[in-house]
Amino acid sequence: MADATRTPGTTPSGGAVLDPWASSQFSDYGRLRDQFGLEAVGPELLPDPGMLQRRGIIFAHRDLDVVMDAHRRGAPFGVLTGLMPSGRMHLGHKMVVDQINWFQGLGADVTIAVADLEALATRNVDLRTGRELATREYIHNYAALGLDPTSTNVYFQSGRPIVQSLGFMLGKRTNLSEMGALYGFDGPTNLAHVQAPLVQAGDILHPQLEPWGGLRPIVVPVGVDQDPHLRFTRGLAAKSNWFNVKAAAQGLQVALSVQQENGAALGRRDDGGLDKGRRQSVMDRIRQRLQGLGFADLNVNPKHGTVQIPSATAKDRHPIRQSLLALERDLGGLGLLQPSSTYHRFATGLTGDKMSSSQPDTSVFMTDERPAAERKVGKAVTGGKSTVEEQQRDGGEPDQCPVFELYTYHFQPDDAQLEDIHRRCSSGSLLCGTCKGLAKQLVGEWLDHHQERRDETAHLVDEFLAPDARELPIGLA
Ligand code: TRP
Ligand code: SF4
Repeated sequence: MADATRTPGTTPSGGAVLDPWASSQFSDYGRLRDQFGLEAVGPELLPDPGMLQRRGIIFAHRDLDVVMDAHRRGAPFGVLTGLMPSGRMHLGHKMVVDQINWFQGLGADVTIAVADLEALATRNVDLRTGRELATREYIHNYAALGLDPTSTNVYFQSGRPIVQSLGFMLGKRTNLSEMGALYGFDGPTNLAHVQAPLVQAGDILHPQLEPWGGLRPIVVPVGVDQDPHLRFTRGLAAKSNWFNVKAAAQGLQVALSVQQENGAALGRRDDGGLDKGRRQSVMDRIRQRLQGLGFADLNVNPKHGTVQIPSATAKDRHPIRQSLLALERDLGGLGLLQPSSTYHRFATGLTGDKMSSSQPDTSVFMTDERPAAERKVGKAVTGGKSTVEEQQRDGGEPDQCPVFELYTYHFQPDDAQLEDIHRRCSSGSLLCGTCKGLAKQLVGEWLDHHQERRDETAHLVDEFLAPDARELPIGLA
């Protein structure tokens, strides 16, 4: 929902604006990817892609290679998402759960943030209602969609103080100008709204802390409109790091990032001078870690706080970074790894507008009765022509058709059959009436199955909740 107190933001490159609270739609995904410096998702990255990846619906990522690397090595990794407890759950929300399912199948642990504070700040949903809605409407459906409760943890922003403290601490690394440029905040913006991205940064980063699973890559699957949050969070994490790893003239270079908080630990005295003994011991520990990773040839400069690693290549960057984050933690820092992220395209709503919880006709909702859902599909806009003759002659446009999107995103898992519908639509041999009949049937069958799964999994909902999610926090009860 757009907020009247904010003006649209601009991007660092001055181009298209992504507003995580506005209802915009994007069509030129390739351009978006380049503009925001996202990477393409290719087969070399995902040897065994799921349906959404195969079909290009997940079209971009940041640092997904770090996650896939952990997977390949059998090292732990996690996936985190947040849900806004307002309105009913629809197919747009299902897409994220499908992705989480896929990562969970690869061995990821799953953390789900219920953004009850954000919903309070931006949608006027009070905390009690937010909780109730989140479990009944969202978590119950997540369970029915097949998430495994044994490796899933759902928590509420209001009930996990660390996400708020972390947001507060990271708030030291940003300022109003940066947040204004990123999110379009200005004078009249209410401060709860300003805090929401900081709490969200806390959501995204806290699973790496020891009590929540420890240092490991965390991937956040989002719609591309949420990228400002990811860029913001990555920036905050990077700015808090004690050691930077950068490309050097030859190989890589590690450099200390001496700040107010870590000055003493990194060998800078209060008077600004160098505490040589302290600095030397930090440099020795860096050296030991790098040698442990197999780098023998190192050029250490304690005074500048740098280590040159001539033989390191770009692909050594992440292992080095991760090892130094562990060292940072040993020395008393947070040691936060930048989150990875994947980006999915938006499905168009059935009416041609964006899917919206407040507009029932725009999507199929998880708890729709079959006849209601079928009616919506029947009324949907299509990529068809205005007359049968015209369509038979010129063909339809499946790539512009919300009904075809139903197949692509959700209901036709078989690639060959999907291809067949696409071909018959384009050639004019399939007409929209017939096609919608098929879509209604698939949607209806899926809904029946989903309702059954809801009944079967209702008893699991509690198991999804983390211990800190079982009761309202003291003071709010
Ligand atoms: N801002 C998200 C939304 O509007 C919800 C959210 C909160 C979230 N914390 C998150 C999403 C962490 C991803 C990761 O829906
Ligand atoms: Fe869409 Fe099907 Fe009509 Fe093609 S035939 S435009 S896919 S509804």
